[in-house]
Amino acid sequence: MTAPEVTVPEVNVPEVNVPEVNVPEVNMIDVIVGKRDGRALRTHEIEWFIDGYTRGAIPDEQAASLLMAVFLNGLDDAELTAWTDAMITSGDRLDLSVLDRPTTDKHSTGGVGDKISLPLCPLVAACGAAVPQLSGRGLGYFGGTLDKMESIPGWRANLGTTEILDQLREVGAIIAAAGDRLAPADRRLYALRDAIGTVESIPLIASSIMSKKIAEGTATLVLDVKVGSGAFMPDRDRARRLAETMVGIGARAGVRTVALLTRMDTPLGAAVGNALEVAEAVSVLGGGGPTDVVDLTVTLAREMCAAAGLDADPGAVLASGAALPVWERMVRAQGGDPTAPLPRAALIETMYAPQRGWVTRLDARPIGIGAWRLGAGRAHRQDPIVPAAGVVLHAKEGDWVEQGQPLLDIHLDDPARLPAAREFLERAYTFGPEPLPVPPLVIERIA
Ligand code: URA
Repeated sequence: MTAPEVTVPEVNVPEVNVPEVNVPEVNMIDVIVGKRDGRALRTHEIEWFIDGYTRGAIPDEQAASLLMAVFLNGLDDAELTAWTDAMITSGDRLDLSVLDRPTTDKHSTGGVGDKISLPLCPLVAACGAAVPQLSGRGLGYFGGTLDKMESIPGWRANLGTTEILDQLREVGAIIAAAGDRLAPADRRLYALRDAIGTVESIPLIASSIMSKKIAEGTATLVLDVKVGSGAFMPDRDRARRLAETMVGIGARAGVRTVALLTRMDTPLGAAVGNALEVAEAVSVLGGGGPTDVVDLTVTLAREMCAAAGLDADPGAVLASGAALPVWERMVRAQGGDPTAPLPRAALIETMYAPQRGWVTRLDARPIGIGAWRLGAGRAHRQDPIVPAAGVVLHAKEGDWVEQGQPLLDIHLDDPARLPAAREFLERAYTFGPEPLPVPPLVIERIA
């Protein structure tokens, strides 16, 4: 029997555009060895690593090895962009385009007495911008902005996204905790870097800071990169490289970013310590306060307004008193009472000038360590801080003092802390027969 002839009907197969499936296999050993030997990592390798490590799928020892290779060999611009993007993608990114004001924010690398965010946020909001300052707590001898704000009775740092957006709409400024969903990869990587000696890597610092700021949703950003003995990065050339790296990351992410290198070899203002710094910030908003704090606040506010495209004069707005009610609304919106007394120390001890002369140097570092030893800062993330502890400076660089004149007041709750703090505070002042010129606060601008 012969088989019947089968005619196969002609079928019109629609043309389907099947994308080429190209998911390259990534192997952690290849990634580590590649970076160890100086190879630029590919975007998909970086994405795979950041995602895997954040989910707990890559062990600490392999992540540590890669971080050390990055520390030693760096990241080029393409790697840095991919690394930062992957850290942003590890969590949520706030969408602030729903606001009807331009957004702008400031980040400082931290310094002794640096309370600038407190007057700056309400001032820039009073100039017409929305300021979404999502911050962290301090570690070491820099008090974090949240630590300072938490000395205000009732004030609460943790807010949900809806509350953040509502406050930005209604008040125009917010200082709040960067929640767990903002660049969670950074939290894991930073903890590991801290444990393995890779914190001081410029690409890792830059991507860590910028991933959080870009995820926060601000359209423009001003960076205050501190230089000097009281700064996280004391060396000027390294601070400049950090600033340039962060400005580059911002530009590639579409966030207009400007950096100022500012002097941090002497404390900012007179108050060092959380509640003491809040009081100083409020006096700036009320038209008083130390000149250096006022000048830096106005300088940064000008940069933020210019970046946001606002034609405002922050100096005039500050002088008009218009920023103070914004501060009060900001504090109230987060449960705080701006009129409540701030915590006061149980004990105030005065340190007197051992000789007469001009103050030729007031070193930020021993002042920062002294305040930290009084309880104003923490050694470990979980440590409590003492809100009222700190130092109030009565003599600064360029001042003349007589022997026995008060140099500073030491605010503390626990007298047992005094000797360890004094050991540092006593080293902070240098006196001379002639005054030395006090250098300007702003060293350089990088855009
Ligand atoms: N601050 C950050 O947020 N990240 C760093 O890596 C260093 C300082």
